[in-house]
Amino acid sequence: MENDRKTLITGGHVVDPGRWNGMADVLIEGRTIVAVKPNLRTTIHASTLSRTINATGLIVCPGFVDVHVHFREPGFEYKETIATGSAAAVAGGFTSVCCMPNTQPVNDSRSVTEFILAQAAAARKARVFPIGAITRGSHGQALAEIGELYDAGCVAISDDGLPVMNSQVMRRAMEYASAFHLPIVDHCEECHLSHGGSMNEGVVSTQLGIPGIPNAAEEIMVARNIALAELTGARLHVPHVSTSGSVRMIREAKSREVPVTAEACPHHFSLTEEAVRSFHTHAKMNPPLRTDEDVQAVKEGLRDHTIDVVATDHAPHAPQEKQLEFDAAPFGIIGLETALPLTLNLVEEGMLTLEQAIAKLTSAPAHAFRLPHGTLAPGTEADVTLFDPAATWVVDPAQFHSLSRNTPFNGWTMKGLVVTTLVGGQEVYHATPARRDL
Ligand code: DOR
Repeated sequence: MENDRKTLITGGHVVDPGRWNGMADVLIEGRTIVAVKPNLRTTIHASTLSRTINATGLIVCPGFVDVHVHFREPGFEYKETIATGSAAAVAGGFTSVCCMPNTQPVNDSRSVTEFILAQAAAARKARVFPIGAITRGSHGQALAEIGELYDAGCVAISDDGLPVMNSQVMRRAMEYASAFHLPIVDHCEECHLSHGGSMNEGVVSTQLGIPGIPNAAEEIMVARNIALAELTGARLHVPHVSTSGSVRMIREAKSREVPVTAEACPHHFSLTEEAVRSFHTHAKMNPPLRTDEDVQAVKEGLRDHTIDVVATDHAPHAPQEKQLEFDAAPFGIIGLETALPLTLNLVEEGMLTLEQAIAKLTSAPAHAFRLPHGTLAPGTEADVTLFDPAATWVVDPAQFHSLSRNTPFNGWTMKGLVVTTLVGGQEVYHATPARRDL
């Protein structure tokens, strides 16, 4: 009987943020976590177990939750499908992902949301939670049918890739979203100010002759959205925070209990605008890589809880699109399969404890988007990630499960390797021995 199957994960260091941090065994029955306790092994008769997973030397934690990915289906399946994106997710330790609506057609209707959910169910890898559009077609004008999107299963609304420039439209969207307690995720960019820019505006852009995007393009919209969240009481989530000014304003808003959460992407705390000197378009994303001062501010924001969440902004693009002049290539890089080691670098640097780093990938994003995941609490679905914190490996994009290869971390030596991923008690990923030996 499938539902009676018992799995014991034994001998690992369990980190379940806010609940447990130490040696323990994890008992799963069917799809559900039953217990997290030391030495459970000694109290259970081996004959009652259908499977034992030896986690000696591994960290055992809730499956990671990514509130910001771009799977390109429907419309751009040559970049990523829901199946390939979900495979990349579980290979990176992510068991739940929230996918942005900038597909073709845009996810501004029940039918697109239902299609995404059906494709995700067929893929049988990660849980996929659709994010609906704020405005019809993400054109920034008329509101999408937010109630219908909520009903169909959307967990947030966003026009990501594009901001909602019209403040009145944004105000109404926030009022509407509040009725359903949906987080509203605005891509913070003042488009008149960023127009024509391809990288951070500063000394490097001047030297390279590439038109720049000033920090202010992001900060003006962060400030506006905080003001509107205060006006409406809506739950604002600020995606891909990249500037010191944004961190400062979010910190101040939180100190006044404005309902705001924020995310940072691994590339924004691992790279600076210096990466653009190679003219490699894998250093092109929106918002752009900033200065060292901004990187330090983002890290400090993660440390002091101004920034709640690490999210990838996984944005696949095909080689023929990225192999263009810097200004002609699209913005975006993939991130699902490199997020864990880049986040663990913050632990190595002493910015975060291991438990805090794991919380940014699990309990915090689940909390921000009200998903019943990101925890090993008994009674919850058994989404579990096991990783080796000491294993090193070299990034080879050819090995990625994603359909796209657009990573700036090609050739980097990473520390921290996902070994096994379970979703609802089922193994959906296990690292091949070759990968583990790298
Ligand atoms: O770099 C980015 N790529 N930033 C976005 O906001 C959109 C994303 C994409 O869809 O490619």
